[in-house]
Amino acid sequence: MEKLVINGGKPLCGSIDISGAKNAAVAILPAAIIASKGTCYIDNIPNIEDVHCIERIIENLGCKVSIKDNSAVIDSTTLNSYNANSEDVKKMRASYYLIGALLGRFKKARVEMPGGCPIGVRPIDQHIKGFEALGAKVTLEDGVVTAEADKLIGTNIFFDVVSVGATINVMLAATLAEGITTLENVAKEPHIVDVANFLNSMGANIKGAGTDIIRITGVEELKGCSYSVIPDQIEAGTYMIAAAACGGDVTVNNVIPKHLESISAKLIEMGAEVIENGESVRVISSKNLKGVNIKTLPYPGFPTDVQQPMSTLLCISTGTSIINESIWESRFKHVDELIKMGACIKVDGRIATIVGVDKLKGAKVEATDLRAGAAMVIAGLIAEGVTEVINIEHIDRGYPYIENKFNKLGADIKRVSYS
Ligand code: EPU
Repeated sequence: MEKLVINGGKPLCGSIDISGAKNAAVAILPAAIIASKGTCYIDNIPNIEDVHCIERIIENLGCKVSIKDNSAVIDSTTLNSYNANSEDVKKMRASYYLIGALLGRFKKARVEMPGGCPIGVRPIDQHIKGFEALGAKVTLEDGVVTAEADKLIGTNIFFDVVSVGATINVMLAATLAEGITTLENVAKEPHIVDVANFLNSMGANIKGAGTDIIRITGVEELKGCSYSVIPDQIEAGTYMIAAAACGGDVTVNNVIPKHLESISAKLIEMGAEVIENGESVRVISSKNLKGVNIKTLPYPGFPTDVQQPMSTLLCISTGTSIINESIWESRFKHVDELIKMGACIKVDGRIATIVGVDKLKGAKVEATDLRAGAAMVIAGLIAEGVTEVINIEHIDRGYPYIENKFNKLGADIKRVSYS
């Protein structure tokens, strides 16, 4: 096993490059299997465990896949199975995209229920509602989702909740449905637009991604294409918050500043300086950042995936901050770990009240999930003394080269093996 050992208290200065977006890549790789002709060449793929997991899964289904140096080459003409049942499938949330992709391609899918971060109940009723509306018969038995249809027929689908996963999944299935599918009350996250752009590059006809209504005119087949994944909004936000927390001056490169506006706005409200410049955002911290209130919301609101790193910053900001986590009911597992380091936080259901303290102190803590892991790394960077973060396999699922990127900015983080 490995842990991160962080010698805290060093300001962060300099610049780093942000990788391709995890939540776009883990949807685009399954989407590539819909192509029945040609090869997909996809750049800016982040080097993270979730990507390697999807790589193994689609290889197991018969695709030829090679991912090297952030580029993926996928030949899915050899795809020969609709049955996704490996251990990897159960490990990660995004394997639910195989249902939409396989249903689109073969009109049949059998996929083990996906795992992912323990951040609350993660139903897929809206995915199922969408597939059924397209004409599929869907069953969920013993942790296995089976979906099949003689043919998929376009229709109007109004989602009851705004769901990233359901929006993408139903979009995947509908690309090859007969006629027009209209999806209403959809998610608008940057990776929704990215997946739609990727599908359109393969020959799909999708309009409206990034707005509340997506219209998909079914086509007969998808073909290979060349594509580049957008930068990771959440990774960028994590480094921006770390810069503010450590009293630093950091430029994050290879970003789309528009995607970061809700995060930049909060940092500015707290007293940090945020300067946008083309594809970069520079964060200059101030000594006295003040606490703020945050409510997590679907895009363009403040992203739930940045809530945990942000809560670390609020621990050392002056005054009282209130976080309302409106997306996931159980996304405060990192709070107990922050308290071990001297933070003053009370959680009541979906509300966390944070009273700023002067400093955090190094401690042995745990990454309870992916973004909680990032929150603990930032806590270690701020803290006096040494912090050890265990269970870092969660962090490796979503943050490429985390210790290298922070060390390039002046941090002192070592990855250490232990048994
Ligand atoms: N929901 C339902 N029914 C559904 C689907 C969702 O009630 O059928 C509810 C969920 O319980 C939740 C809300 O709708 O309360 C939003 O869930 P959503 O479907 O948008 O989440 P997801 O697709 O499972 C993705 C990301 C998460 C991110 C959320 C919200 C991936 C692989 N995961 O999850 O990312 O928190 O969207 O933006 O894209 C992370 O990267 O750390 C992470 C957890």
